Amino acid sequence: MANEKEHGSGSVKPGDTSKRVGAEVIRERGVDPEELREKLIDAIGAEFTTYYYYTNLRMHLAGEEDYKEITEDARLEDRAHFELVVPRVYELEGSLPNDIRDFADRASCPDAEVPTPMDDSGGFDTEDLAVEDILEVLLEAERCAIRTWSEICDMTRGADPRTYDMAQRILNEEMDHEAWFIELLSKERDDEINPAGHFARGEPGDAPYTKNNPFNDSA
Ligand SMILES: [Fe+2]
Ligand SMILES: [Fe+2]
Repeated sequence: MANEKEHGSGSVKPGDTSKRVGAEVIRERGVDPEELREKLIDAIGAEFTTYYYYTNLRMHLAGEEDYKEITEDARLEDRAHFELVVPRVYELEGSLPNDIRDFADRASCPDAEVPTPMDDSGGFDTEDLAVEDILEVLLEAERCAIRTWSEICDMTRGADPRTYDMAQRILNEEMDHEAWFIELLSKERDDEINPAGHFARGEPGDAPYTKNNPFNDSA
């Protein structure tokens, strides 16, 4: 008989599909799965919007091919971070907002906009746009991501190993990203040598921690 085994039954009735043991075990360990899931939506809102904003920032590093390459790695890895955590939101009975505006508004980090106004013709006013200003936006976006995923690690440590594993993987890459942009900004703005100390990614946006076991070729 299943109920004679230690874990054969629990707080969710057999056959009850309205509740998830995967969420209840987290609650039993002191974390509110609803609160966690909403935090995750905010966090991946920031990953998704940053993926968008980095597309724009990267383009405006015109002629700085090495900077563009690094920004491309960070950009693609933010998409990987978004995709890594989306399934977790649904496992915790949440969903992505239907309206992308709602999703962007609740992102847990500021918009990483190109630091110059738009001009009258609908493009950016690039006259005073400096490379170092773009690098500073990139650096501060990475720092916000580090703070965000550190908070998720704190919330889940010892209570939700699955979310913790995702958050610490992302955090590993965000710390790489901060180091990259510290190196680039130090050189560009201050003419200082401040090495990130990292080797190049194998492929653009390799995401060695968050894509080391891709679900399929498109992941
Ligand atoms: Fe990220
Ligand atoms: Fe990042």
